[in-house]
Amino acid sequence: IKNIAVLTSGGDAPGMNAAIRAVVRAGIYYDLNVSGVLRGYEGLINGDFIPMDRKSVANIIQRGGTILKTARSDDFRTKEGRQKAYDQLILHNIDAMVVIGGDGTFTGANLFTSEFNFPVIGLPGTIDNDLAGTDFTIGYDTAINTVVNAIDKIRDTAESHDRLFIVEVMGRDSGLIALRSGIGVGAEAIMIPEANMGVEGLIKRLEYGRKDKSSKIIIVAEGDEVGGAFNVGEVLKENFPNYDIRVSVLGHIQRGGKPSCMDRVLASRFGVAAVEGLLEGRSGGMVGQINKEILFTPFDHAIKHIDAEEVSPVWLKLVEILSL
Ligand code: F6P
Repeated sequence: IKNIAVLTSGGDAPGMNAAIRAVVRAGIYYDLNVSGVLRGYEGLINGDFIPMDRKSVANIIQRGGTILKTARSDDFRTKEGRQKAYDQLILHNIDAMVVIGGDGTFTGANLFTSEFNFPVIGLPGTIDNDLAGTDFTIGYDTAINTVVNAIDKIRDTAESHDRLFIVEVMGRDSGLIALRSGIGVGAEAIMIPEANMGVEGLIKRLEYGRKDKSSKIIIVAEGDEVGGAFNVGEVLKENFPNYDIRVSVLGHIQRGGKPSCMDRVLASRFGVAAVEGLLEGRSGGMVGQINKEILFTPFDHAIKHIDAEEVSPVWLKLVEILSL
């Protein structure tokens, strides 16, 4: 391997820049040429390669977003699109690739490596933390801290007005942002796709819960099948006419901002491990960290989300105990 490429794909996540920096610097350290690909798989298909040197990644470790930009590519889902991407890699003399993203990115990478036998290693970069094979993904720690900071502010005003707030957080298929930030803010209830409490379950909790609390925070993961925080708000208003209810959807603020130190260090470690993995002949998997150890997990296993399902009952019990 002499020439490698790096790209970011799917939803951006704080710490992606730290990961790009680590891949570039590790590549240079091991005497490789590194190219950046703009806008994920879209840029790969269009041949948008840029040379990266040690200076091109200076002063980015602290920046949110991704300097390589990102996209969700429909073309890469097709065989023709992936063929074009492969042709571009050959045209640019690239021998191996590092892709930074989440389950969509790895689904594409998995197809791509098996179709073309092209070496690819993935770095988990998603605020959702919904990949198996790593305790934490790059961006999750920053995102949950953003959520906690926002909900602490909501708690202040909720407390002053004796209000119940329903707060919607991101996580299309996963409730892990909701779970951990919910514990962090002392939420009264958390609704996540893995547990499927339903509005009836929530109503029961509120009926049997303490009545003397002046504020209540209910967290709803975007992916929960109740259909979003506004829906929950409507049903609660009908069932609890005495509650003063407000809804807040946190949205994309969860994806931005300076990465936390945890995310910067995780991304740095993963970036170096990916380059070393490629040099050792690894391919077709994601770098992760479990119990402080770096390990590689095949893409088809990483995208199975199994960690979220295993973890949720323990966390939900914690919420029940702590919200007494
Ligand atoms: O995968 C990260 C994520 O932020 C999800 O939590 C969310 O559902 C989705 O991306 C939103 O994507 P977009 O920014 O493309 O609307």
